[in-house]
Amino acid sequence: MSQELIAKAESRKEANALDLTNPLKPHAGKVAVVTGAAGGIGRATVNRLRADGATVVGLDINPAVVENLSEEGTQGVICDITDDEKFQAVIDQVVADHGGIDIIVANAGIFKAGEYIEDLGQSWDLHMKINLTATQRFLRFSIPYLKHGFEASIIIIGSRNYAAPGPGAAAYSVTKAGVTQLARVAALELAPHGVRVNTLHPDAVFDTEIWTQEVLETSAARYGMTVQEYKTKNLLRTEIKSTDIAQLVSVVAGKAFIATTGAQIPIDGGNDRVI
Ligand SMILES: NC(=O)c1ccc[n+]([C@@H]2O[C@H](COP(=O)([O-])OP(=O)(O)OC[C@H]3O[C@@H](n4cnc5c(N)ncnc54)[C@H](O)[C@@H]3O)[C@@H](O)[C@H]2O)c1
Repeated sequence: MSQELIAKAESRKEANALDLTNPLKPHAGKVAVVTGAAGGIGRATVNRLRADGATVVGLDINPAVVENLSEEGTQGVICDITDDEKFQAVIDQVVADHGGIDIIVANAGIFKAGEYIEDLGQSWDLHMKINLTATQRFLRFSIPYLKHGFEASIIIIGSRNYAAPGPGAAAYSVTKAGVTQLARVAALELAPHGVRVNTLHPDAVFDTEIWTQEVLETSAARYGMTVQEYKTKNLLRTEIKSTDIAQLVSVVAGKAFIATTGAQIPIDGGNDRVI
């Protein structure tokens, strides 16, 4: 990142305020970056932020991100977020192209169920790299720009698993605990710069790639349930869609949450172990 790009982000802030007077588009004039944007929650989030007025760049290791997002009029960039050099270059390019960054959504992640601690090897390392370390890198590469952002907001996609873990998912649960703690410290560090940091904890969003039939069956078995029982196990007996998470991301990044930082918000249909 260069001083020139930081200066660009700084000078854009004032001009942007003009766009943001449009009450119909809460994120008009803002620039957002979303990881894990090829499908599931990430893709829904890209679409929602765009519909709410932001210019959005979606990143994913899956090359389908380019076509999937261009179909919807947004920019998708192929990026393995565990590749520091590439990740940093993509973030810098967003600023070079669009003038700054106001919202980041750390969403990319992997989830493998049915892996007991005594058997956990490479999968542990992979979860750490993608879910945890790359989230820290995302913050590190974006913070210099977010400090000059408009209503700047960092949204971390955590998981119900953090507060209510289950057996066989140690690697995943530890990474979600890690990103939650990272967000709390980031909220403390960034409050003086007006950057908010909040964590959403979804659960059981089944219209995503993470929920392969195999993962569903293993997870259901872990709780001694059938797949159907597992799918409706929340207190409200409601089905949670990726568009619901996307809507919450947009709201938390907007004015309704302008005085909220360091918060953790469940979107799980109600979970008695969390409540
Ligand atoms: N679906 C759920 O029920 C649920 C529940 C709680 C939390 N979450 C969290 O939501 C987030 C999104 O998951 P989803 O459910 O939409 O699943 P998903 O598999 O559809 O999306 C995850 C995306 O991350 C991308 N990704 C993986 N490794 C990457 C890498 N190295 N670089 C760049 N991109 C990479 C994948 O290609 C994929 O597109 C994850 O952090 C997940 O842990 C999901």
